[in-house]
Amino acid sequence: MATAAIQTIRSAAPAVLPSLLLCDFGDLKGEVAKLSAAGVGVLHLDVMDGRFVPNLTYGMPIVEGLRRHTDLPLDVHLMISDPLAYAQPMVDAGADMLTFHVEAVRDPVETAGKLRDLGVGVGIALNPDTPLASLGEVVSLVDMVLVMSVEAGFGGQSFNPIALDKLRTLRQEYPDLLLEIDGGIDVNTIGAARAAGCDLFVVGSAIFRQDDYARSIADLNSGIHSESENLASGLKQEDPS
Ligand code: DX5
Ligand code: ZN
Repeated sequence: MATAAIQTIRSAAPAVLPSLLLCDFGDLKGEVAKLSAAGVGVLHLDVMDGRFVPNLTYGMPIVEGLRRHTDLPLDVHLMISDPLAYAQPMVDAGADMLTFHVEAVRDPVETAGKLRDLGVGVGIALNPDTPLASLGEVVSLVDMVLVMSVEAGFGGQSFNPIALDKLRTLRQEYPDLLLEIDGGIDVNTIGAARAAGCDLFVVGSAIFRQDDYARSIADLNSGIHSESENLASGLKQEDPS
């Protein structure tokens, strides 16, 4: 049964999700206010433990802090080696969706089931070098698949188009599955990701390394919607049978 937050995330799609990794952590309240004013519908939180990925970011205190400043759904990307160890504290802190990496766990089906028991949205992520086949039956147990277009761990990396093939395959096999892409998404890559069937577009440097967040987000949304129009017009052309 989908949670209210999953319904909110679904209704926000297609949507740009700012990734809180390159933002100004010295002014989280101000950053969230700017993003909300720019019309953002969901926030993506990059949690890294320095073990699963060679980088260390933040944990429950930051999630709690964000929860106090926004009602937006918090899409928490767990780039950590033991997602189940921190799942309940993350939920208690205010996470609405917990996405774990298939590379980090021995049994993704068991992990997905235990996360679902916590009453939150459940996502599973895979790095560019991880084949879709590694997901197996867990795809039918999660709300979302996060297809990484960079190796998890850092913002500002270059887009890896292998993600587009995975998105196309997943969209074809699972028409209703929420699909999210993360890494190297900007105005030059977002249209291709939309055309491949993606719903949620995680963006870091293409927002936070620009001066005007609202302008950047508007440009990214144009990239989504122009592709959506192309998709729709493409369908129309196929209609006349
Ligand atoms: C990388 C993170 C991404 C990253 C996106 O491990 O999961 O969310 O911050 O940053 P850009 O958009 O700069 O690639
Ligand atoms: Zn992320």
